[in-house]
Order: sequence, then structure tokens, then C-alpha cells
Amino acid sequence: MKKTLLLTAVLAFAACSGGDWHDATLPAGERAALLLKEMTLEEKIGQMCQYVGPCYVPPDQGSPYKNIDASDENLGNPELAQRIRDGKVGAFLHVLTGEEAHQLQVLASESRLGIPLLMGIDAIHGNGLRAGCTVYPGNIGLASTFRPELMEKIGAETADEMRRTGMHWTFAPNLDVARDARWGRMGECFGEDPYLVSEMGKYSIWGLQGRDGDFAEGKVLACAKHLIGGGEPAGGLNAAPMDMSERKMRELYLPPFQAAVEAGVATVMAAHNELNGVPCHANSWLVEDILRKELGFNGFVVSDWMDIERLHSMHHLVPDQNEAFLLSVESGIDMHMQGDHYFESVLEGVRSGRIPMKRIDEAAGKILEAKFALGLFEDPIPPLPAQRGFPADAEHRRTSLEAARESIVLLKNDGILPLGSYSRIFLCGPNADSQTQLGDWVVPQEDDDVITVFEGLREAFPQARIDTLFFGGRVTGVDEAGLAQATSLARAAQLNILVLGDNSQRYSSFGRTCGENCDRDNIDLPGRQQELLEAVAASGRPTVLLLMSGRALGVEWAAESPSVNAIVNTWEPGQMGGQAIAEILTGAVNPSGKLPVTIPRNAGQIQCVYNHKHSQYSRHFALAEQGPLYPFGHGLSYTRFEYGEPTLSKTVIGPGESVQLRVTLTNAGPRDGAEAVQLYIRDEYGSVTRPVKELKAVQKPFLKAGESTTLEFEITPAMLACWGAGEKWEVEPGDFTVMLGSSSDDKDLNCVSLTVQ
Ligand code: BGC
Repeated sequence: MKKTLLLTAVLAFAACSGGDWHDATLPAGERAALLLKEMTLEEKIGQMCQYVGPCYVPPDQGSPYKNIDASDENLGNPELAQRIRDGKVGAFLHVLTGEEAHQLQVLASESRLGIPLLMGIDAIHGNGLRAGCTVYPGNIGLASTFRPELMEKIGAETADEMRRTGMHWTFAPNLDVARDARWGRMGECFGEDPYLVSEMGKYSIWGLQGRDGDFAEGKVLACAKHLIGGGEPAGGLNAAPMDMSERKMRELYLPPFQAAVEAGVATVMAAHNELNGVPCHANSWLVEDILRKELGFNGFVVSDWMDIERLHSMHHLVPDQNEAFLLSVESGIDMHMQGDHYFESVLEGVRSGRIPMKRIDEAAGKILEAKFALGLFEDPIPPLPAQRGFPADAEHRRTSLEAARESIVLLKNDGILPLGSYSRIFLCGPNADSQTQLGDWVVPQEDDDVITVFEGLREAFPQARIDTLFFGGRVTGVDEAGLAQATSLARAAQLNILVLGDNSQRYSSFGRTCGENCDRDNIDLPGRQQELLEAVAASGRPTVLLLMSGRALGVEWAAESPSVNAIVNTWEPGQMGGQAIAEILTGAVNPSGKLPVTIPRNAGQIQCVYNHKHSQYSRHFALAEQGPLYPFGHGLSYTRFEYGEPTLSKTVIGPGESVQLRVTLTNAGPRDGAEAVQLYIRDEYGSVTRPVKELKAVQKPFLKAGESTTLEFEITPAMLACWGAGEKWEVEPGDFTVMLGSSSDDKDLNCVSLTVQ
């Protein structure tokens, strides 16, 4: 609210000041306001229009420049080049080559005011839509590190690679709270817990944008998405409706956006889904009242891909597309992502008096302000790749490796891991030597840039014979002949390693089973991979199962079968994944990843989350095992951590007071290692029902074997507050239980009581 008033004040000031928008010493907001004064209505609306990169426009495989004039029903406009020269395009997304980024900016420089284009891309876990850039583990894996501060480094490196490829704006972080494993987008989120999502998102934004709001030097705009509630769609299907109480929204889904706004996020993207009957692209309560006025967001809001059109075509909210465009502008959406006709509709909307000029000035003004802040006007045309060199960076790859090592979660281990020496290994499964490990939002990378599990193991076991069976890299490719072959190779081996799971690769023709718009009606291993697992395990030889997927997989049989000796959840570990996995298997690295989601036994248990209400499991499923397969926060180590009794500096406090908690942690096992120490709080009784526990803090110390440390946590009023019956955040007097330990499972937690008077 405060900041919105500020922009209005700047606009008013600029209207009477004599400054010049070319003056790079003026603040970005002031320059934007001065530039607006010189712009026609068409040029202002042009800033609100975003188009997809011409290399998406099919027919011509020749020069990308030629493709700009190509025509396609949805992707591309036959007059796009001219529209850019006319100043009717403000931004692009998914410009996939450096040549194109260069050529598009040259076209923009030929427009009357020469306003540069803002280039957006889904750099979700690294700038993976550009070949040669660093690909970090998928976001669910990054969350498994339980080290939010690592995101600042990853964000900064991603920003650096983006700027070096002519990009200025990433559609990340994804702050959806992922609470349904059928949903294919779980892998691009930071898990089911609002605290962890908020922390991961905050550090990610700081890394991408910097902490001081100065974007110019190697920084990019971040985008908090998707506002709001897409993480538990009905039936697990992307974009399906979300009906939730305001309390649930405020307690679970809004906190990550609040944290993002506090971290200074420059842009927000609206969600595909409807919220309580109102699509998020037509929801002025959400965008104007909550996001802008209440949270104080001062950047611009972009639509999701062609979702404004879907107010008509998918949501059946309005009878035609024209009305959808106008409604979105009235609801606070500032930029239209991809496609034609928006420009003309909005222009007519202003001319007819329906859309006030002030609304256009606000939207265009914020977009221009971002461009000024990025320094685009001073340096609009990126050099061609030949002059710029290769974007990849050895230091960034080391970060990717570090993140992969910490993201891998050891789910089960009967003692077989770390592996001893073996002379004959059978490595089997579609994901063992595949770019599946890169996850969604990545184009195929050079093979030399990716270390697969096969390559990692070959390096780790140089003397061993490794028999392989990869099913052509297809997770749905296991057939009768393959099962027979696997059975005999497994019997001949001393050790079997299976790499099974999903495939999220959006540009592969390999039967995608996960990722955006790839939801499933179950969470089993796709295709005949379960049969493969059982056939290999039946060999009687030691068997290790590696799960490579963007979603939690309900591998109940493997978890309970004694013939599967270990299960390692690798998620989608990025380009260095094979090395990190081999290091974990051999013990060169001690696993320290923890689950940022609960793993259900099967899809029937969904919704299965750790921070549920007390009544959820007051009754039991008939004919079934109770409880999740693996709890949130679970993850084994090769060493043993012992927790002392936690102590509070006071056990009775007033409502506005904080209290300190201390606990001793000892590495009582044989190996050095890191432990993600988790602090949960339960409000015992409230004016409304409260979850059984909520994660409130995490610390991840590294301890040498035999070493001890004392950890201190501050428990603040914000950590005790709830959105109570009074419909506001408050600390309600009463008893709280503070729990500290190695997972969300009660058996892993030590408790201490705290009373608020
Ligand atoms: C996704 C967004 C993404 C956009 C642009 C949409 O389909 O929902 O998350 O940023 O496409 O690629």
C-alpha cells in the first residue's frame, strides 16, 4: 500500500518535473514516469504485451530471424517484427538462442522510443532452457537439502548465466505449496510446508535479484508464482479448481508470497486455477486487496501462459475473449503472457472509457520501472554468443554438485550402504543413463555436460564389470523380453542397482510421466517398473533401489520387502547427479537430505501431509496399513546423531515475548555428517482447530564424528501465532508443545512445553 502510493507520488512528481528519462542518474521509478509522459496510448499498452520467442514458431528451421515473420495459429504473429518496431511489444519469453535475443532487441531499438524488450524465461532450477547453462537439482530436491541459504548462491549463479544469455527475468521461484503427489508439478516446488517454501523462496529471490533492490549488475527479476493455491488441485490435475477457506489460504498458501514480497520480489504470476469460484486472473480481491494493499507488493503482475484467454475458454467465466482481456486488466494483471488480440482489446477498452488511463499508466509504469532498474536502457542489445563465449561456469557446476549431494534422501538402509567392493554389478532401469535426471524446464543438454548414474558408478567402480539394461531410457519401456533379461543379469551379479521413476523432460519424446501438465491418477512406478523391481529383487542378490522422479512415489512394496536392501530418493538431481549419487552410494559423501513432503503409501492416502489437523486420523482406513510410508523430514545418515533434551530460557511467557531454546546435538556415529535439525510447534488448544505440528525453524550443522554442538533457536511470537477466530494473526494464550528432532515423526522428536499467559 505504502509503496503503491509512492508510485502515484512519483507519477505526479514526474508530471510536473522537467527531468529527462535518458538521465541514468535518476531513480528508476522517476525515469519510468518521465518516459510515460512521452508515450502514446498504443506504446503504453505495448509494454503490457508479451510474446513467446520466435524459435517456438515452427515451420522454418532456418535463421531464427526469418522465423520472426513466420505465422502459426497460436505461436507467433505474422507481423511480430513490425509490431516490435511499432513499440507494441514489451516483453518476450522463452527466447531460446542468443542470436534471437540479440535480433529482437535490435528490432526494439528501431522503435520510436527504442524501449528495450524484457526477456523472461523459466529458469526454474538453473537456466536450463538454454543449452550449456548449469542445471541444478529440481526444486523438490533443493528443498530436501533443508539449507535455504544455498538458494541464494544458486539464485545468484542463475542470474549471472541468464544475463550472460540476454535474459532479465525468471518465472521463479515457484511458491506453490505442493500437497498432492499426483500433481506433476510437485518437482518444481519446495514441498508441502509453508515455512520451508517461504525460506527457500526468500533466499532464491535474494540470490536472483540481490538484497539491495539494485538489479543492474548481473541480477534479474524474480517472479513469485502462482498466486494462489495450485498445489492441491482437485484430483491432482494441474489447473483444477481450488476451494479453500480464507484461514487455510492465510496459514498455508499466502505465507510464501508474504515472504517473497518482504524479500522485495519484483513480479508475481497469477495461477491457472480458480479460487473459491473466482479464477485467479480475474480476482481483484486477491491481486489488489491482498497482494498489493495488504502485503505491500509494488511490482507488476504477469498472467500465466494464455490464462487470460482461459477465463473464457476454460473457466467459462465470460462469454468472449475480449471481455476476458478487459476483466484481467481491471483485476490488476499488468502483463499478458503470449498471444494476439490482447493489445487491440485493451486499446478499445481504454478508448471506450471502460479501462481508466490511470490503470494503464500503473501497469506500463511498473514494467518500465523494472526495465530501468535492470539497466536495460543503458545496455539494451546483448552481444551475439560468438562474442560472449559459453555461459557455463565450473564454479556453478560445483554448486550444482554440492546441492545434489545434499538433496539426496536415504529412505531405507539395512546396512548395505555405503557399498563395499563388488566386482560384478547389474545396473538397470530407464533412468540410469538418461537426462531424466535434469527434470522439467530443461532443454536437452550436451551429453558431456551431464553425469548420469551409469557414468558416476563407472567412475566409482573402475574395476567392476557393470552389466546394464536401460530400456531405451523409457520409463514406460519395460517389456516381457526386458524382464527376462533383467532376471538373468540380476542373478549373475553380486549387486543390483535399479534406477526407476518418472520422466519430467518436456522436450523428450520418451513418454513423459511427470512435470507440468503431466499428472497421474496414482503414485506408483509408471509402466512395468514395479515388475522389473520385483524380478530383480527376486534374484536373492543385494538390491538397491534409486528413485528418480519429480514426485513422491508410493513404493510400499520396496519399503517393506527385505529383498530391497536400500532405497535412495534422488529426486531429479541435475547435471552432476550421477556423481553425487555414486558418492552417496559409496560413502564418499554422507547423505543428509530430508523429505520436504510426506511420502504416502499410495494415492488413496492423499491428501497425506504432516501438518494435518487432529481429527484427520481419528478414524482408520479399512484393510490397509495406517500412516504414511515415510514422514516429512525423514532422511537417514551413515552416522548417528544424538539429541539432548531441549531446554527453554523460560517456560511461561507473555503474548509478545520471545523465548530461547537450546539443545545439544552430538554426532555419536562413526562418520562426519550434517543433520537437519527440525523445530516444530503445536498450539495445544485454540479458538480454531490447530495442526498437530508445524515446522517453524531448521538448522543444519555439520559435525565431525564424535563432535557435539549446542544449537540455539529463538521462538518468536510470529512462530506461535495463528489466524484465529478473530480473523487476524495473534498469539492465543495457552499451552504450546515445542518439538525438536530429526523428522516430523513423533518418535524422532523431543518435546518441551511452553505456556503463553
Ligand atoms: C506455467 C508457468 C510458466 C509459463 C511460461 C505456464 O504454463 O504454468 O509456470 O512460467 O508457462 O513458461
